[in-house]
Amino acid sequence: MGSPPLLLLFSFLLMLQHATRAEQTRHYKFNIQIANVTRLCSTKSILTVNGQFPGPKIVAREGDRVVVRVTNHVDHNVTIHWHGVRQLRSGWADGPAYVTQCPIQTGQSYVYNFTIVGQRGTLFWHAHISWLRATLYGPIIILPKLGVPYPFGKPYKEVPIILGEWWKTDTEAVISQALQTGGAPNVSDAYTINGLPGPLYNCSAQHTFKLKVKPGKVYLLRLINAAVNDELFFSIANHTVTVVEVDAGYVKPFDTEIVLVSPGQTTNLLLRTKPYFPGAMFLMKARPYATGQATFDNTTVAGFVEYQKPYSVSAFDKKLPLHKPTLPAFNDTSFAANFAGKLRTLATVRFPANVPQSVDRRFFFTVGLGTNPCQVNGTCQGPNGTKFAAAVNNVSFAMPTTALLQAHYFGQSRGVYTPDFPVYPLRQFNYTGTPPNNTMVGNGTKLVVLPFNASVELVMQDTSILGTESHPLHLHGYNFFVVGQGSGNFDPAKDPANFNLVDPVERNTIGVPAGGWVAIRFLADNPGVWFMHCHIEAHMSWGLKMAWLVLDGSLPSQKLPPPPSDLPKCG
Ligand code: C2O
Repeated sequence: MGSPPLLLLFSFLLMLQHATRAEQTRHYKFNIQIANVTRLCSTKSILTVNGQFPGPKIVAREGDRVVVRVTNHVDHNVTIHWHGVRQLRSGWADGPAYVTQCPIQTGQSYVYNFTIVGQRGTLFWHAHISWLRATLYGPIIILPKLGVPYPFGKPYKEVPIILGEWWKTDTEAVISQALQTGGAPNVSDAYTINGLPGPLYNCSAQHTFKLKVKPGKVYLLRLINAAVNDELFFSIANHTVTVVEVDAGYVKPFDTEIVLVSPGQTTNLLLRTKPYFPGAMFLMKARPYATGQATFDNTTVAGFVEYQKPYSVSAFDKKLPLHKPTLPAFNDTSFAANFAGKLRTLATVRFPANVPQSVDRRFFFTVGLGTNPCQVNGTCQGPNGTKFAAAVNNVSFAMPTTALLQAHYFGQSRGVYTPDFPVYPLRQFNYTGTPPNNTMVGNGTKLVVLPFNASVELVMQDTSILGTESHPLHLHGYNFFVVGQGSGNFDPAKDPANFNLVDPVERNTIGVPAGGWVAIRFLADNPGVWFMHCHIEAHMSWGLKMAWLVLDGSLPSQKLPPPPSDLPKCG
């Protein structure tokens, strides 16, 4: 045998290596269908993807293209949003109903087609119309490019931990009734871990999530808050976890016993198991962080961390002691502020923090609750006989009946939206002091128009109208840097001096602190119409949402391509 076969083998290996490095296209089929699911001793028909609850995992590598054909087999309009995926020049695939697309009607399909650029970690997908995301959600796992290691040791195993809410009643009825009466919507009946409420609820012990672990290993927990209305504390008894990534971006690792995760946020945690079989069971728990005045679901979801028994321990030994974690008080705002303050982006040569150092456009938005008048001769159950509302800069967003992105792209914005979203509140007051007597909001479909590549600074200020409250604000199409946060009113003379422009955390959803403010920066390098809203569905339904219209740049690579031919029609 001479060298030719060896050479052949060698070039074959080279080809193979090349093939495995190239970006792939990942195809998925999402069939929206009904499934019957039993929890807390009652059975309910819910909307699912492919009959699964929670829904299927999307797994891709950074740089891959993801193609998901969504077919609607239910008698409700549906869209799916890939929460946190940047959608660089693929805004038509973003998913929020009446913002980037009209919904997929019964019997119809739409193919979401996008590439994952510059992101790695955990995100999630969910329905983005009305409250359908109550059951339509699932993980998105973005692995690093082939051959690129994590900036931490390779975990032994990776496990998604999706926090959700379980409602005994139909959530569509809950929100439509609330919007009619003007009162606050009912609250969920339970929280869930991977769809399971766990042993602390009646009739639920058989629906408990169990994380089976081996001693002396590192597990990567991909924590996702997919709850409808609640920020959640999460903790595992007798185990410290290391936070390594949030919203698909690495952070400087830090240890904590308790994690706070808001709806729309994701957090990757390293769990180091005990070096030897501990002879005990450990509960993991989640329960809400609640700052508003309204009633909330104050129950607790629990699951187990169960160590594999060594051979010397009898399999019949079920009397292991059980350890339980302690969670902060429901309204522990100082824990929230402290936890937020620990998050810093990794900022290394490989993962630099591209924080905009200068600002082209400054915005100041108030976020909070308010009221709308009751219909003439009606009776309403909101504050003082009004209807609950919520607003950004006192504009409660009115959903259009056609998609904003289409209206923009085809130059048909007249009668759909106006480009005059206020840069600053029109009525100024002591935002976190005694609230004004007039709590009425304005209503409209207003957008901020930004030129391509504008560097934006936005301060979001909570108000005390109907009580201060934490609002997890989510921006579509972008990650932003959280350059500052504080309690009370933002002081434009003093606060900017303390902004972190070196290693601020980069994310897509940030809690505007109850009775405080947060400052973010982002570079408007992604043309399209991008929704920004509170990820608490009750507040979103009341109008705590707005949209940014980012114009095309002059180069071909800076323009939004035309819509795909199967983009759903309106009406
Ligand atoms: Cu996770 Cu506009 O949403």
